This record gives sequence, structure tokens and C-alpha cells, in this order.
Amino acid sequence: MEKTNKRPIIIDTDPGIDDAMALAAALFSKELDVQLLTTVAGNVSLEKVTRNLLRLLTFWDLKIPVTKGASQPLLRAARDASEVHGESGLAGFDFPDGNQENLLPESAVAAMRRVLIAATEPVTIVALAPLTNLALLLREYPEAKEKIAEIVMMGGALGRGNFGAYTEFNIGVDPEAARIVFDSGLKLTMVPLEMGSIAKIYPEESQKMASLNQTGRMLYSLLQHYRSGSLDSGLEMYDSTVIAYLLNPSMFTVEKLSVQIETQGAYTAGATIVDLAGFYQEPANCQVCVNLDSTKFSTWLLAALANCP
Ligand code: RIB
Ligand code: CA
Repeated sequence: MEKTNKRPIIIDTDPGIDDAMALAAALFSKELDVQLLTTVAGNVSLEKVTRNLLRLLTFWDLKIPVTKGASQPLLRAARDASEVHGESGLAGFDFPDGNQENLLPESAVAAMRRVLIAATEPVTIVALAPLTNLALLLREYPEAKEKIAEIVMMGGALGRGNFGAYTEFNIGVDPEAARIVFDSGLKLTMVPLEMGSIAKIYPEESQKMASLNQTGRMLYSLLQHYRSGSLDSGLEMYDSTVIAYLLNPSMFTVEKLSVQIETQGAYTAGATIVDLAGFYQEPANCQVCVNLDSTKFSTWLLAALANCP
């Protein structure tokens, strides 16, 4: 197999309007080799996020293997974010039907293991959704760990949440899965909610996006229906910050910290306890993005989307 200097990655996703923007930036990057796309119940049901991913790939005329993962969190009842993304999960644009040829029959976990074991170099797992699939992978196939370069995730919060008072959605939907991932000993990078709040898309950027290409026009249509922030006050595009970190980490301020996942609290289950001040003397288990240059981000995002058809 020809060795490319592209970084091999697997993307676990729950499209999701902000996932769609992150996928646009990643799938047309000349620096990333996207070897597998896996879906998991999150923003909307597993069936809907999988349908949405296939529709996006058909819109872009891309042939990338897709496999379906968990339809429920490990222990808790599924909860979605359809109030943010619409009932379909991609409200605002009339996509073509997805090409089913991209959908493989195997499960996401089996496909992740297959791709990791076969990889000629360790693979980065990009997590844009609840961590259920990753937890199952680590439990069912621990031998795959040595082929995981790192896990870079959108998840958690330094402070207040968007799913609970102190809980971010991706962690809060499946705290037990997050605990397994954060206790895995793997190299982890967490891009929390606050980065999405810094990386807001304002009308100026969304107008420029619409003038770029058909992808920009599609994303602009989706943004009219995205309910995390507002078009005027700025839309919080969380998942794109993960791709920004992969491709241009220097725009972030990163600290190596202890991050513990609360799973017992009646009101705090899913909270990411980011020990910024070192209260607990726990070993630092995660690189945490604690700041972001918003100008560099918006410049990067528009340049990344300009690579799309
Ligand atoms: O909290 C934001 C995260 O939850 C993003 O990944 C968004 O797509 C939703 O999955
Ligand atoms: Ca997501």
C-alpha cells in the first residue's frame, strides 16, 4: 500500500448540523486520510444520523465506508438534541437520498477494530458524538488500543454545560462510556464546549460561506435551522473545532490536566471535572483545549470549506 503523508483517521459522528460542517472540513482536507466513518445515536436516532451521513456523502459524491454503531448509551436511556438540529438532524436542506453502497454490513466496533489492526501506522480516532462506540471498542477489542494514536474529541466543558447545568451533550448522553474512554490510558485531547463558544459563526462568516460553493450554500441553509446560539448573536459550531485542532493546533491553548468523569451525581452525571487548579493531585490524563484564537479559527474554517465542491 502506497504510504501517504496524510494522517490516518476514523471519524465517529452523529450528524447533526455542526457535524456536517466538521465533516466538510475534514473530508476535503489534503492532510487527512479518512479511513472509516462510524455513526452512533446522539443528536438524533442511529437510523437518522446514519441516513444523514449517507446523504452528505452522496451530496459530495464521496465513496467512504460507513458503519452503524450503538443505538443506545451503555446503560442510560437515549436522549437526543433534535431541538437543536431539527427532527431529521439536518433540518434546512433537501438532500438527495444517500447511496447505500457506502454502508457496510459490519458493526462500527468490528469495522474500527478491522481498520486499526490492518493500519500500517497508528490511527487517530476523531469523536464528534457520545463515546458509546469507543467504549465498546475498548472493552471488546483491547488489542486494538496499541493501534490508536490518540482520541481527539468534541466533548465536555470547563464550566457550565449545554445538556445539564454542568454537563455537555456528548459526555452527558453516555457518562459511563466517557468514563471508560477517560480511564483508558490512551492519549486524549478534549475540545470542550467553550471552544465552540469562542468559534462562533457570525452573519459575516455565514454569508461568505454561502458565496463559496455548493457546500457553503448547503451549510448556510442548515445554519438557518441550527439552534445553538443564533445567526445574529453567533452560532456555536462545536464539532468543527476538533478538525481545526487536528489541522492547526497552534490556534489553541492546550494544557495537560486531570479530567474525571462524574457518573453518580443526581444532577452532575456526565460532568467533566477538569482540575485546572490541581486540587485532587490526580495524574493528568488528557490534553484540554482551554483557549482558541477566534480570528484564526474563522480564517481557517472558510479556507477549509473553500476546498469543498
Ligand atoms: O455538545 C455539542 C455536541 O453535541 C456536538 O458534537 C453536537 O453535534 C452534539 O453531538
Ligand atoms: Ca456531533
